[in-house]
Amino acid sequence: MSVSTSSSSSRTLKIGILGFGTFGQFLAKTMIKQGHILQATSRTDHSQLCDQLGISFFRDLRAFVEADNDVILICTSILSLSQILKSLPLNFVKRPTLIADVLSVKEYPRNVLLQVLPEEMDVLCTHPMFGPESGKDGWKDLTFVFEKVRIRDEETCSSFLQIFESEGCKMLEMSCEEHDKAAAKSQFLTHTIGRVLSEMEIQSTPMNTKGFETLLQVKESSVKNSFDLFSGLFIHNKFAMQELQNLEFALGKVKEKLLKRMEETSLNEHKL
Ligand SMILES: NC(=O)c1ccc[n+]([C@@H]2O[C@H](COP(=O)([O-])OP(=O)(O)OC[C@H]3O[C@@H](n4cnc5c(N)ncnc54)[C@H](OP(=O)(O)O)[C@@H]3O)[C@@H](O)[C@H]2O)c1
Repeated sequence: MSVSTSSSSSRTLKIGILGFGTFGQFLAKTMIKQGHILQATSRTDHSQLCDQLGISFFRDLRAFVEADNDVILICTSILSLSQILKSLPLNFVKRPTLIADVLSVKEYPRNVLLQVLPEEMDVLCTHPMFGPESGKDGWKDLTFVFEKVRIRDEETCSSFLQIFESEGCKMLEMSCEEHDKAAAKSQFLTHTIGRVLSEMEIQSTPMNTKGFETLLQVKESSVKNSFDLFSGLFIHNKFAMQELQNLEFALGKVKEKLLKRMEETSLNEHKL
């Protein structure tokens, strides 16, 4: 793992966003602000919003891949990746293109992309560790994880990374496997606890402690993300199952300790 501090070059890019949902739209706004030229395609017709943002929207996948992109940025859900890539007519891509993704798991897209993409296409796997809520006031000091999986056109890759670097992101280069191991212990755990708190229907009270305010925030930010995203974090990260088991086991341990102390206390009180 290494923290990178500067990248050498930057130029205006033609970026094709594949999957124009919440996160694709969020990224697009900053890319446009920086002067990049954007095109998009998605399952749903987002053409009205794209018109407002100055983005060309393609309903037809072939027209999208033929639209001369420097970068195709995959912003689809984790669960739909494989199906979408199968339907992408890659043989109509006109020139070597950088294929990048922003999925919140990394080994899975890395493997799928290497499997389906033609050898001449470069592959950059990334995970911006922020979203529309945490990044709403800018991306400064927010972490951007990436692995240069197969890069020959360093200039395009570096210009793409510059989008995040120039916003002040902390650039963290690490392998997709390292990412998934750490993400299972941090991001997946946070989302799981948020979902558990949501199942428990925790609510604000007139006497919230700071700690409880934090729990409410964890619950709220977790359920703002789609259930597709959360299940993708579990299904396509091989380290997530272990963390779920660790959480269950730890809850059992805490309960056991409390019951033991309760028993000891009641025995002591009995002796008095
Ligand atoms: N939200 C975040 O904070 C965040 C942060 C970092 C990375 N990411 C990653 O960014 C990606 C997008 O996340 P998201 O928050 O926008 O929500 P998401 O629910 O993970 O993905 C929504 C996107 O996937 C598309 N999609 C879902 N099912 C599909 C299907 N069966 N066929 C075709 N397209 C399908 C949607 O298309 P339509 O809109 O056209 O229906 C939309 O573009 C995910 O891979 C996520 O892991 C998200």
